[in-house]
Amino acid sequence: MSTATTSPAEIGAAVRQILGDALGYLLPAALRVAASARIAEHLSDGPLTPEQLAERSGTHADHLRRVLRFLATRDVFREDEEGRFHLTTAASVLKADFPVSMRNIVLLFTDDMYWKPAGRLDESVLRGNSVFDKVFDGQIFEHLPSDADATRLFVDAMADMSVLEHDGMAESYEFPESGTVVDVAGGLGGMLRAVLTRNPGLRGVLVDRAEVLARHRLEDETTTGRWETAEADFFKELPAGGDIYLLKRIIHDKSDEDAVRILTTVREAMSASSKLLIFDLVAPPGGIQGPSIMSDVLMMAVFEGKERTEAELTELLSKAGLKLSRILPTPSNMSVTEAVLAD
Ligand SMILES: C[S@@+](CC[C@H](N)C(=O)[O-])C[C@H]1O[C@@H](n2cnc3c(N)ncnc32)[C@H](O)[C@@H]1O
Repeated sequence: MSTATTSPAEIGAAVRQILGDALGYLLPAALRVAASARIAEHLSDGPLTPEQLAERSGTHADHLRRVLRFLATRDVFREDEEGRFHLTTAASVLKADFPVSMRNIVLLFTDDMYWKPAGRLDESVLRGNSVFDKVFDGQIFEHLPSDADATRLFVDAMADMSVLEHDGMAESYEFPESGTVVDVAGGLGGMLRAVLTRNPGLRGVLVDRAEVLARHRLEDETTTGRWETAEADFFKELPAGGDIYLLKRIIHDKSDEDAVRILTTVREAMSASSKLLIFDLVAPPGGIQGPSIMSDVLMMAVFEGKERTEAELTELLSKAGLKLSRILPTPSNMSVTEAVLAD
């Protein structure tokens, strides 16, 4: 479209769009203020003035008021005529004790680990890889083990992010009536617990790092006696003898090389009848489109991964001695990609 045929109104709208988008980073910055100062928690018992909120949260009243007004333009908090701020639904999900809490997710997505490499996306595009290693000591999965607080935030945010998806995902696949499900790098175990709850004849093994396993959430009245944890490194060796191996949100944040290394370790643990289920997005043949495209850019900016197509997944699996057998939808934007040993 040339500017000669573009109306002044269209140009004005385009300019406003670009101006807003170029300052879009202020929104996550403001969400971080609310999450870190626990503003939503302070409003749980009713509306408060900025001065009252500032006193309870140890912040500066005028600056806080201006940030909350900004968030109110997105229906995160509401200001009344007396200048008091109220909770809204969007503000409530920032509470740490909300059943589907977004607090850890906001804190992770606006943490230096995400923020700084994302702010240097231009360098990533020149380089063809995340600049995480220029900001920190190595790429993200080399850095995390050296920082206990960062690891805790990462693992907790991943667990919170999945709360709404686990039930739908566990129902999207017909698990066998008996046998063992090994959730590889399963984090705090929410997915494995959902699978065990729906399939009372199954046993489960949750694999992750020791410090993550120490905080697992596998136990409830339906799973007692049917689970165990196993510390293992998915680049080295995994528990053998599983009937089903799960990899959820693992392959998409890895480079092709690391993904093949992990898939190879899984294949070595599998028997002829085992199945591997990969829970990740499967991009359409031309590459990812729609809202999920943000996840693909995140995988490039902060990680070394990508949201892959069926053809790309097939190739990775084949390099690891596995073959893709089918892809099933789930209620979320992720799919279940089932693989078995290649002939
Ligand atoms: C992106 S999280 C995904 C967790 C979980 N599958 C989910 O969907 O919420 C990645 C997980 O991999 C674990 N992890 C990282 N490196 C690992 C390794 N070398 N061996 C085993 N687990 C590892 C982390 O501790 C973390 O729990």
